[in-house]
Order: sequence, then structure tokens, then C-alpha cells
Amino acid sequence: MSFRDFLDKAESQGKLVKISKAASKKLEIPAVLAELNDKPVLFENVKESEFRVAGNLCVSKDAFANYFGIKSNELVPKMINAIANPSKPEVTDNAPCQEVEMEDVDLSKLPILFHCSKDGGNYVSSGVFVVRKGNGVQNLDYHRSMEIGKNRFSIRVVPNRDFDNAMKESGDEMDAVMCVGCSPNVLLGAATSVASDVDEMHIANTLEPLKIVKAKTSDLMVPADCEFVLEGKILKERADEGPFVDLTETYDVVRQEPVFEVRKITHRKDAIWHGLLPGKLEHRILMGMPREPTIFKKINEAGVKCLDVNVNPGGCSWLHGIVQIDKKSEDDGRKAIDAAFDGHKSMKHVFIVDSDININNPLEVEWAMSTRFQADRDMVVKENEKGSSLDPSSDPNTRKTTKVGFDFTMPVGEEKKHFVKAEFPKVDVKKFLE
Ligand SMILES: Cc1cc2nc3c(=O)[nH]c(=O)nc-3n(C[C@H](O)[C@H](O)[C@H](O)COP(=O)(O)O)c2cc1C
Repeated sequence: MSFRDFLDKAESQGKLVKISKAASKKLEIPAVLAELNDKPVLFENVKESEFRVAGNLCVSKDAFANYFGIKSNELVPKMINAIANPSKPEVTDNAPCQEVEMEDVDLSKLPILFHCSKDGGNYVSSGVFVVRKGNGVQNLDYHRSMEIGKNRFSIRVVPNRDFDNAMKESGDEMDAVMCVGCSPNVLLGAATSVASDVDEMHIANTLEPLKIVKAKTSDLMVPADCEFVLEGKILKERADEGPFVDLTETYDVVRQEPVFEVRKITHRKDAIWHGLLPGKLEHRILMGMPREPTIFKKINEAGVKCLDVNVNPGGCSWLHGIVQIDKKSEDDGRKAIDAAFDGHKSMKHVFIVDSDININNPLEVEWAMSTRFQADRDMVVKENEKGSSLDPSSDPNTRKTTKVGFDFTMPVGEEKKHFVKAEFPKVDVKKFLE
């Protein structure tokens, strides 16, 4: 299902908010998206551009589950399967994303959003970058891109990840393509972090079959049904990037970052731009969800049965994890804490709960804390650990942090009966209301 098919589905389910009044890409559209928060929105009339803008599509795990036609707790096994079994997409030479070739490259014609008043410029934050690594395998990931000219962006590249390594391997300039308006399977595939010999497009294809097409000006393969394709190269040149609101909704600093020079833009007819609000739910879900399978796997490898994981938005979908286990022995909670930190190295706090706690309901998790947890017995404190560069409270130079694991599980033996939640009888309440 393409990005626009997903929008159509949201509309048919009565979830899509359509805005026909003119709205500006500068602050107005982001403000409306932020206000409507978890509702998908389509802006049909953008003041500065002929193109429409849509956002807030993938704002929850339920939205992804709805897209794939599965239950929310089936997402982690689905991602584990896709990561373990990447598969080649079908190649086409007839791609919607190449229906229209723009005559000249002029980024000001695109509805690139200016999100917050202190931002360094207009930013693309939904763009999936495709590059080829030194081993010949493609890499998909995200790089927020600040518009700095008619055909240029400065893009944030976190050091020592695949994209940065590909830049170093290329030794010089590197072909790159930015795809905007990608389907959720591509968005999710691009957000995974996998072995360097795996093409994340193949993970996306196992999540849901897709077609790919060769870009017009390089040998890079791009999703055939995305909305926009911006083809160009990463230059050796560096330029100011930032300030920009990051995942934690706090401002990231200005750095000297690589320049992406665009040489061709193609798009679908009546193309729809994907506006993704930094720090808000869509950004968070895309960051956190792909860490859930890695945590799940490590806990099971440690001999504890993990049932589900939620790298929850309350913890910026990065710094906190809630883990549901099927507890069989007294030390399962502690084992799960260690394994969870191993499965997501940037996580700062992890909360382990039993199978009767809904990990998507903060009230239930807090209830487990209030009734099943004693800090001196059930808390694991790990001082002086390497933390996340995104956490403003970690040491700004070393990123050292204190990690804490909270075991909110019940005892397994005879004592358990004191901790089980009482159940009220089930009743068909309608009978009493008629
Ligand atoms: C919405 C979103 C925005 C992101 N923005 C950036 C970014 O600006 N720069 C960056 O280096 N990584 C960014 N990331 C993280 C990278 O995409 C992440 O490093 C990647 O998933 C890991 O891929 P790799 O294992 O192929 O290196 C972002 C992730 C998401 C989901």
C-alpha cells in the first residue's frame, strides 16, 4: 500500500482530517499537525506550493498494525521475521514516482516545512535516504535536511553509522537519493539498524511486498510508489545545520554537516509531501519501534520468555522501554533488565511487568509499580554507563549516564496470590441501560 493508499484508507475509516483552507508551510502547517497530534491530516491548499502535504499518519503502533492488518502485539514478531528474512523487491521500469520530472531543481517550489520559530531553516524530516555502501549494498536511513539554497541541503549525519561509514568508504562525493512520501513498510525498514550486508529495502519488502525502480541519474534503486524522489550527491563540503528540534523536543545545536546537492527531482502526479514533525509522535514511533524486536530477541536469548515490548512515546520512544514477560522464576525480572539494556544501548530506564499488565497503558504500568515494587529489592542501578546523545541530562561531553531497571513483576510462588488483581464479573451492560 503506498503512502497515498494509506491516506485513502484513513479517509475510508473516517480518521483523516482534510483541510482545504490555505495554510502556510512556514509554521502554520506544523502548528496544525502539532495541535491535531494523533490525527492524520491532509492539507489540500498550501500557500507557497502546488503540492499537498500530509502528516500524522504513523503516530502509533496501532496505526502501523492497522496498515499491516494485524494486531498491535503482532508487530514485534512481524519485525523480527522481516529482519531475519529480508527479500528482494520486484524491479519495475514503470514507476509512479517518476511520472513527472521537474524542469529545473528549485527546492522553494516544494512544501518543505519550517517547523518551529527557532529552527535554522526549512527542514525535510521524513526523507528516506538511499545510498550505496562500499560493499555494494544499499543503505536506507533518515537525515534531517535543512534547505540552504535552490538545490542544496545541509544534512545531519550521526557519526559511525552506516551512512557516515559509506561516506568515508566512498572517499569522495557519493550519489544519494532522498525519497519523500514513502509507504509505512519503507519508513519502518529505513528506521531499522541491521548488519551492513543487508539492504533495508529488502526488510521493507518482507514487511510488505514493494516495487523498486532505478533512479534517473544513478544506479540507486528507490521505492517505485513513493511521492517524491530527490536525486543528487553528498559533497565533501560542509555547511551549518541547525538549530533543530530533536526527538526529545529540545533544541539540538548547530554543527558543520555534509551538503546534499540535488540534481533532479521526479514525483507522482498530484504528489503529496510527507510532513513529519520532529519530536512528535510520528518521529518517536519510527525511532522506537525498530528497537523493540532487538530488545525482545535479547531477552528471549537470556532464557526469559518475553511477550511484548513498548519503547513508549512518554520516554521519547528512545530512552524508556516497557517489557512484558511470562515470569517463570524469581530472577527473570533482573535477567530481563540486563538483556533489555543489551538490546537497546541508548535506553536509560526499563520497566519489567507481568503478562497481566497492558504495556500500552501507562496507568496499568504505574499500578504494577505501586503494588509490586520495592525500590531496595527490585531496582537495578547502573552508574557511569554510556547513554544516549539525545538525552539532555546525560554528561554533555562523555554522554555518561545512570541507567535504572525497575522490576514490577509479582513473585512466582505461593506469595503471588497477594498481588493478583481481582476481576469483576463480566456483564452485558447494555441489558441494564436499555
Ligand atoms: C524520523 C527519523 C529521523 C532521523 N533523523 C536522523 C538524522 O537526522 N541523522 C541521523 O544520522 N540519523 C537520523 N535518524 C536515525 C537513523 O535513521 C538511524 O541511524 C538509522 O535507522 C540507523 O541506520 P543504519 O543502521 O543503517 O546506520 C533518524 C531516524 C528516524 C526514524
